[in-house]
Amino acid sequence: MSFLKNSLGISHEIVEKIVKEGDIVVDATAGNGHDTLFLAKLVGDSGHVYSFDIQDAALEATYSRLCAHNLQHRVTLIKDGHQEMDKYVPRGVKAVMFNLGYLPGGDHSICTKPDTTIEAIKKSLELLITNGIVMIVIYYGGDSGFEEKDAVMSFLKNLDYKKYSVLMHDFINQINCPPIAVCIEKLR
Ligand SMILES: C[S@@+](CC[C@H](N)C(=O)[O-])C[C@H]1O[C@@H](n2cnc3c(N)ncnc32)[C@H](O)[C@@H]1O
Repeated sequence: MSFLKNSLGISHEIVEKIVKEGDIVVDATAGNGHDTLFLAKLVGDSGHVYSFDIQDAALEATYSRLCAHNLQHRVTLIKDGHQEMDKYVPRGVKAVMFNLGYLPGGDHSICTKPDTTIEAIKKSLELLITNGIVMIVIYYGGDSGFEEKDAVMSFLKNLDYKKYSVLMHDFINQINCPPIAVCIEKLR
């Protein structure tokens, strides 16, 4: 057991520190619902989670996971691309989580794409409150390739440093492209 957490662990640790009961948050990639459930636990009955996916299988898996914990009332599940999130989510969001790539156990060709991911990140930044965060776990290499990671990283590197802080967590001596976690904090 290592002391240093992987990117998924780090992303949860940061989100857990920031999200409190009563907060409005977004899971931009519901997938099998692990992050949606994690967020639903954090926001309590007075908060709310908006959770997006483009696949029925993902939304069904997420709904079942929530029901197993009796937390489905804390979540609005939306079958639409996260790049449309401004149509569903009010301003005043504390955190948005992205877990890029494909649905584990699903069709690898149905996956997040550079243009829509960047569009969704831009919309997330608009919806955030000051000191709110966007947390992105980026899978790359293998089936995911490098295109999305490269496009997202170059977009993030050019964000105005007076408005946003961007922190990257990466293991620099591992093999097989371990996922990267990036946290954007809105400063004003
Ligand atoms: C790596 S999985 C997410 C895993 C998930 N966070 C979990 O905890 O199980 C990525 C998901 O993004 C979804 N996806 C792909 N493009 C999307 C888009 N434009 N908008 C919303 N979801 C999208 C895929 O259908 C897939 O289920």
